[in-house]
Amino acid sequence: MLGDTSFAIHPGKEKQSAAVVYRDIGNIISNKKTDDTYLFVCVNGSVAVQFYSDSIVRITMNQKGDPKIDQSQTVMKKPDNVAITEDFSKDIYTLKTSKIKLVIYKAPFRLIVKDENGQIIVSESDRGMAFRENGEVTVFKKMHENDHFYGFGEKSGFLDKRGEKYEMWNTDVYAPHNPETDPLYESIPYFMTLRAGKAHGVFFDNTFRTVFDMKSESDYYSFSAEGGQMDYYVMAGPEPKDVLEQYTHLTGRMPIPPKWALGYHQSRYSYETEAEVRELAKIFVERDIPVDVIHLDIHYMNGYRVFTFDKERFPNPKKLIADLKEMGIRIVPIVDPGVKKDSEYTIYQEGVNQDQFCKYIEGETYFGEVWPGISAFPDFTDEKVRKWWGEKHAFYTDMGIEGIWNDMNEPAVFNESKTMDVSVMHRNDGNPTTHRELHNVYGYLMGQATYEGMKEQLQGKRPFLLTRAGYAGVQRYASVWTGDNRSFWEHLQMSLPMVMNLGLSGVPFTGPDVGGFAHDTNAELLTRWMQVGAFTPYFRNHSALDTVNQEPWQFGEKYEAIMKKYIQMRYEWMPQLYSLFYQASISGLPVMRPLLMEFPEDEKTYNLNDQFMIGDNVVVAPILAPAITDRAVYLPKGEWVEFSTGEVYDGEKTHLIHAELEDMPIFVKKGTTVMQGEWISNKDKVAKNIQMNIYAGDSGETYRFTYYDDDGETFDYENDSYMELDIEVVSKTDAIELKVLNQKGNFSPTYKEIDVNVIGLKKTQKVIIDGKISRENNYKISI
Ligand code: GLC
Repeated sequence: MLGDTSFAIHPGKEKQSAAVVYRDIGNIISNKKTDDTYLFVCVNGSVAVQFYSDSIVRITMNQKGDPKIDQSQTVMKKPDNVAITEDFSKDIYTLKTSKIKLVIYKAPFRLIVKDENGQIIVSESDRGMAFRENGEVTVFKKMHENDHFYGFGEKSGFLDKRGEKYEMWNTDVYAPHNPETDPLYESIPYFMTLRAGKAHGVFFDNTFRTVFDMKSESDYYSFSAEGGQMDYYVMAGPEPKDVLEQYTHLTGRMPIPPKWALGYHQSRYSYETEAEVRELAKIFVERDIPVDVIHLDIHYMNGYRVFTFDKERFPNPKKLIADLKEMGIRIVPIVDPGVKKDSEYTIYQEGVNQDQFCKYIEGETYFGEVWPGISAFPDFTDEKVRKWWGEKHAFYTDMGIEGIWNDMNEPAVFNESKTMDVSVMHRNDGNPTTHRELHNVYGYLMGQATYEGMKEQLQGKRPFLLTRAGYAGVQRYASVWTGDNRSFWEHLQMSLPMVMNLGLSGVPFTGPDVGGFAHDTNAELLTRWMQVGAFTPYFRNHSALDTVNQEPWQFGEKYEAIMKKYIQMRYEWMPQLYSLFYQASISGLPVMRPLLMEFPEDEKTYNLNDQFMIGDNVVVAPILAPAITDRAVYLPKGEWVEFSTGEVYDGEKTHLIHAELEDMPIFVKKGTTVMQGEWISNKDKVAKNIQMNIYAGDSGETYRFTYYDDDGETFDYENDSYMELDIEVVSKTDAIELKVLNQKGNFSPTYKEIDVNVIGLKKTQKVIIDGKISRENNYKISI
């Protein structure tokens, strides 16, 4: 980041140019195999190699002793029982599964990973694994001319990260957020490389400050950490979707969120009183604008003390919550980690008396300043503390609350370093270490404590958790919003690659503050942003203190009508979105995808930042600049039907598309389907009628889709209470053939059939459902 004034580029400004001296791992001296681990002892350290599946290999290098292979904060999986062919010759060792071949050179230790076709995916040559005296560990990998990089969690800038250098160190950045602002709130030390249409991934499971450098050299990229081990996994792909499945096999997948959490969320820093919240809810209902959640920011608390309500501002929170629930609206309160230092405050008393707070090695509690003033911080690295914190959430669940918003959990502290003193000692479940090592997992572990506590308290209902900070695997506990953006068009633009890369990093449920958090929004920006928000996985409008209000009605009827239409569309698309969230929960695939995920052979998609896909067949191309009513839209292979006009466009071409303020261009691929429901009312959000829209093709294309439904709010789906329909549509010149290939689960929804609507059906085409020719205009699937 640049300094504050031009002094930052003063000609005489001293440069730090101390030569960086790396020590190479050196030659292999000996090797052995125990259970599932190959160990290579080298001159300057040891390397463990483990196969987590046919397609995933883990490399762990420790320069000081035996590699530690059981310390991950996030990988709960153990290596699978993989069949490995070994070939140990004089100079080279090869280890081969059915999907990857590892070639290890002995002198010095160098490693090459090849895919099942013998193509090199990750390789080292004159440089490989190395470390420095100060404890830093690094690995250099060959970078190919046509490598493109994605993932890295929450980063600003464009989709393709080639030419960038990123740091992972969870940081509270209020301003600025621009393409060079790094790091931000989340650390996901993982990336996917796309090379000539094939993909592979690397997950560097190191919680210290890490750096990924795809910028400094033209033929090498590197990743390094300030301490710890060089501990990374290579995932062989070969398709982008395979990489995601492999990465989430290791770090886990998001449980199916409650349906209400997929609806529209209204937030503001802050709705300050019970009366204000009631009024807000009333307006939504009166104007028939859908809303599922109202967030309570820090003003609901008594002096920002977590697990309290301010009795004057919120005299009867339980009643408020119950009344709102009657209206179909839930309350999600904010909970920050900082516990106010106040000897008369029970949570602080308990924290001190039960020894729950982070401490220095000498035994003093660490204090830092956040919203409540001087505060102590629970040590979430300890199971006892996580349990205590989780149990405290009974305060909220007893009032009927089912969702929590975790903020400031980097942890943010109002001091120069913006966070906790790195020398604070964490208990780390019996293996104490410093904040320097565990900083990046503090928020993630707070998420675990919160999610598990809420799950326990809610007795069978699904909790919803929103978090700002996290680490790889955060998806198991939380959805993520992208922090304090601003009401700038540039931030709307930047949010698309950011959310897409989060999706490629295993976190499917994410979104920015719609409308922009800081700075004043305006009618046009808010309207365009709401259109996009209706299709991003997480949809929350949030704004800061002292900015103009940005609820959907704030800018007059014309804009309100458009925003209302799009928020309602969110609900109409819910059956489709919910099915995609189900898919995310079983395979790790994101709901919102960059086009490259579906079209990895198409170079035009490699850095396409201003369009995205919902699932595998819908392209959304929003307007992202003021006063624009025409935009270029690139459509990949296939034929595409514009959702609102029905116009058909050829793929592999760029089209100029017209979109007045009330329109956002959406394209559905011909030969595919979209499931739709209906908007009823805030009180009753369960669609009574479900419709399957088939966009008829005619060139023999086959499309498969899994439609999923359940009660939307409990874990009963784990006991078979769900409905899964595996659907196939074949588009032929003379017929559209629809088949339910498979129906699973015991859940019976209120609707008993699904209406089928064929769009673009030709006179020459019949509609055949489950082998029977259907009567015109009365197409249905019975369930
Ligand atoms: C932080 C959060 C923001 C919240 C504010 C007050 O800035 O990122 O969303 O409104 O704190 O709690």
